[in-house]
Amino acid sequence: MAREWTAHTWRDKPIQQVPDYPDAARLRAVEADLAVLPPLVFAGEARRLRRALGEVARGKAFLLQGGDCAESFAEFNANSIRDTFRVILQMAVVLTYGAACPVVKVGRMAGQFAKPRSAPMEVVDGVELPSYRGDMVNGMEFEAAVRQPDPDRLLRVYHQSAATLNLLRAFAQGGYADLFQMHRWTLDFIKGSPAAERYQDMANRITEALGFMEACGLTGESVSQLRETEFYTSHEALLLNYEEALTREDSTHPGEFYSTTAHMLWVGDRTRQRDGAHIEYLRGIRNPIGLKAGPSMTEDELLRLIDVLDPHNDPGRLTIISRMGADKIESHLPALVRATKREGRTVVWACDPMHGNTVKASSGFKTRSVDRILAEVRGFFAVHSAEGTHAGGVHFEMTGRDVTECIGGAQAITEARLGDRYHTHCDPRLNANQALELAFLIAEGLKQERSLGKLAPPGLAAVS
Ligand code: TRP
Ligand code: MN
Repeated sequence: MAREWTAHTWRDKPIQQVPDYPDAARLRAVEADLAVLPPLVFAGEARRLRRALGEVARGKAFLLQGGDCAESFAEFNANSIRDTFRVILQMAVVLTYGAACPVVKVGRMAGQFAKPRSAPMEVVDGVELPSYRGDMVNGMEFEAAVRQPDPDRLLRVYHQSAATLNLLRAFAQGGYADLFQMHRWTLDFIKGSPAAERYQDMANRITEALGFMEACGLTGESVSQLRETEFYTSHEALLLNYEEALTREDSTHPGEFYSTTAHMLWVGDRTRQRDGAHIEYLRGIRNPIGLKAGPSMTEDELLRLIDVLDPHNDPGRLTIISRMGADKIESHLPALVRATKREGRTVVWACDPMHGNTVKASSGFKTRSVDRILAEVRGFFAVHSAEGTHAGGVHFEMTGRDVTECIGGAQAITEARLGDRYHTHCDPRLNANQALELAFLIAEGLKQERSLGKLAPPGLAAVS
């Protein structure tokens, strides 16, 4: 089993979803350039996230992983990064306070640029061109030159990710995430909505508690936990030449390799073949890994994948992200949870309530119903409650912009209104209001889990 691994052994395996680069020489030159660029994240940070996820696996914390479906070059600016970050902070605070549960915050940000596609080519009016695979590969515009996979885009992704990460680090540790500032995280356009009012109410209570603590001498200045948060990055490890070029040996632990493109990487439901290239690459790096599991995942396949990806049963190494769809979660997830438990495997169970609930509206827009998204999350909590396991996290697609991409929710966005502000480059995302609604629902689920005695009581774990 323990075949030798290097950052390029994936090249000998069958691979899915690879772009067909017309200029192979240019691709090699770009890979060589990336190979000498500084790491975007450090091994020590990835190790820290693995420890924090270990707490989630043990039932002592919750994983909140979210962000854009696909980042883009055109929408790259400080405001949109800040707004996405704000919504994640709001959701995190709802969970931290509402469920008294430490929250591990991971963005689908600073590297989430590539998309798997169901067909390699797209035909429009009799013209056939390569499908759009995300800004990391080609452009969205349906034009021959733009749809040609371009290796130079990998360098652009690297630089945009570096700038995004730099801003995120500043927001997380430079005062923006200070709990004394939490009233300021609310985006103007959501003010007055039911979720925003509920949030405002909670913010008032927290501010009152902070005032008491301040009077006791615990201020943001004296206690860094109140002033700062830890924010990690993640993306789908789809383009392995990019990951390979940025794989580095940990200088403090020789022989251990990390992808330095993000703290956490996941493998998609379409590229998780046990003998395929993506699993081969991921098995050898030490970052925390996510494994997406759709309705076609069998118990046997899952156990074999766990063997390959987490042979030492290291809590925090592996997060299983189920994406079943609201109508399938209660019939498909229990068997996977039971098999894993039976084999004594400690993994994080997270729920992606987005990707199994995508439909095409009659207007042609791809959409998702907020009701079904929330229903899948409820089903996820119900399964774990029945199995006696911890509902460990959620994985969602969201934006801080005021979009109308998912229908329903307290704002009751209708199919007819989808076209008002439909901006996504790929899948429909929750807007800030819908994301807050989701957070309140999860807080309820976690409180219930605790009342059943499954979530460890508050105070046992510390995630700063
Ligand atoms: N440091 C703690 C944490 O990250 C508390 C905290 C500070 C926090 N700022 C935050 C929690 C913003 C949520 C959101 O959990
Ligand atoms: Mn998506």
